[in-house]
Amino acid sequence: MTESYAIESHQHETRQFPPPPDFARQANVTPELAAQLYAEAEADFEAFWAKQAEALDWMTPWTHVLEWNPPHAKWFIGGKLNISANCLDRHLKTWRRTKAAIVWEGEPGDTRTLTYWELHREVCRFANVLKKFGVRAGDRVAIYMPMTPEIAIAMLACARIGATHSVVFGGFSAEALRDRINDAGCKLVVTADGCWRRGTEVRLKPAVDAALEQTPTVETCLVLRRTGSKVDMQPGRDHWWHEMLETVGDDCPPEALDAEHPLFILYTSGTTGKPKGILHTTGGYLTQVAATARWVLDLKDDDVYWCTADVGWVTGHSYVVYGPLANGATVMMYEGAPNHPEPDRFWRIVDRHGVTILYTAPTAIRAFIRWGEQWVLKHRLDSLRLLGTVGEPINPEAWMWYRQVVGKGRCPIVDTWWQTETGGMMIAPLPGATTTTPGTATRPLPGISADIRLKDGRSVDANEGGYLVLTRPWPAMLRTIWGDDERYRRQYWSEIEGVYFAGDGARRDEHGNYWIMGRVDDVINVSGHRLGTAEIESALVSHEAVAEAAVVGRPDELKGSAIVAFVTLQGGRAGDDALRAALREHVAKEIGALAKPDDIRFTDALPKTRSGKIMRRLLREIAASGNVVGDVTTLEDFSVLEKLRADED
Ligand code: WTA
Repeated sequence: MTESYAIESHQHETRQFPPPPDFARQANVTPELAAQLYAEAEADFEAFWAKQAEALDWMTPWTHVLEWNPPHAKWFIGGKLNISANCLDRHLKTWRRTKAAIVWEGEPGDTRTLTYWELHREVCRFANVLKKFGVRAGDRVAIYMPMTPEIAIAMLACARIGATHSVVFGGFSAEALRDRINDAGCKLVVTADGCWRRGTEVRLKPAVDAALEQTPTVETCLVLRRTGSKVDMQPGRDHWWHEMLETVGDDCPPEALDAEHPLFILYTSGTTGKPKGILHTTGGYLTQVAATARWVLDLKDDDVYWCTADVGWVTGHSYVVYGPLANGATVMMYEGAPNHPEPDRFWRIVDRHGVTILYTAPTAIRAFIRWGEQWVLKHRLDSLRLLGTVGEPINPEAWMWYRQVVGKGRCPIVDTWWQTETGGMMIAPLPGATTTTPGTATRPLPGISADIRLKDGRSVDANEGGYLVLTRPWPAMLRTIWGDDERYRRQYWSEIEGVYFAGDGARRDEHGNYWIMGRVDDVINVSGHRLGTAEIESALVSHEAVAEAAVVGRPDELKGSAIVAFVTLQGGRAGDDALRAALREHVAKEIGALAKPDDIRFTDALPKTRSGKIMRRLLREIAASGNVVGDVTTLEDFSVLEKLRADED
């Protein structure tokens, strides 16, 4: 943590939307059950979570529910289970064996449906391929894949044999992929030739080839054929997915894995330049994601559920793959862009497949608003019954538009707050029981205890701003940062004594609703993607022309935050548009296109305090408005400030 933002809320939204009575009656969590869940969790939260865990198939029962040696938690100690068996095999014993597990649509319009029976077979076969290449329980496998059913198949195959997967979002660059592969010491990489995005091919294999030049631990690369374009296959290392499937059988019994067996590592941005490998384990993770998918997403057997997140992010892990499949749901998956070939693609998909539950990000909703409601109104959308959002604060206007234009005033909205680190939803409405208000994720879920505190540990009063913390361990919590337990301790458990520090500012209103104000650290949320300003800065300074860089977020109507970089150049060189473009490309190469600065400002020097710290608050204010308010007496060089201001004109 470097410095905090001012925590204040400008929202005074009071409209209330109680659950529609019809919805409440049929909900997985009715008002009565909600009251009971909250009461049970309050009385004994360990027993409460144990009860939720009993809904899973265990191979060996646990002997203790929780061992809490702060900041390290172990859940369901002694228990053994297999996540792929919970997501697949268990449904084969019921009528769900012929139910659609994944309904997939490619961007060109091609579709595929896999029943639970078929998905199980594909997972077993791919798990056998992994075994054939020497992958064993505990080995790490990198997955760098497009949104095709095979990304889920690869993850479930890893889970079946106890390999720990590390999914790297396909939008990350070769360099970012290489660093993540090396940090986790992956033995095998699963990828594809490419995928379709806005009508053109995005190639993945060349990035993998570049990354694998500097990844000593990788022995094998398995390549899915999606687009059919030509790729280089390195003999001995690279193999086609479809060819390897021919060499194995269908039978692959699930490994009995310890409840604390590492299920996955997922890298996310923090306050330093190096992304953190968030480690999640097996029993507690599945318990919470399965329960929250049932409670908050209200999954039923006749639903077609669509979470639009890419599987490369945590939302895709927990609420495209593990949570819904553990519940035997039908999961919709889509490969491409929301505006291809036209801005009504999502609504076409909803109608074409009869989607009933839609879970998306505020940034997408804001884009739909900008594109115009006529694109939504062209489609009936009467299959929809529940809407959800995740990833960033939702402004009340976007919430109301979502409710009225998409949900026709009928569908409850669940605004869900959680993080890569929390593994599953933490603060969210129970759609059949909770009265919602636009802009608040409402209350912590049963079994979750949150609070709003100041740095000295004091809980704040209603409507006072503070830091969002979690005061008790939860089953799906991260267990550590891969390879850096000290950073885990420091980052999450040392900011405020004895509690988990989420990195978000928040307030709680007089009804107990939590209003999340956004990050208070140097993490910015760009279109729902989490990026560390330090990562972008180190990408910029790795360019030969750059001396120093400071990156801040600027409020942006569409993206939430836009990326603004203040850059000083080597040897008094002058900046121009060509260099600006080159720097943007350089960041795309180092991290990925998602991290390209929206705005690069060249300056002679950066404003620093007397102790040499870059005054980010000031830069944020300049980026946002061009005006500087507040105390600047610790500035080293006022002339720098004058120059930055002048540049605004
Ligand atoms: C933000 C995504 C407000 C928050 C699941 C958090 C939200 C970060 C919400 C985690 C929400 C997520 N309302 N803010 N409903 N959901 N956030 O790790 O700042 O990609 O700390 O996990 O997104 O982002 P991450």
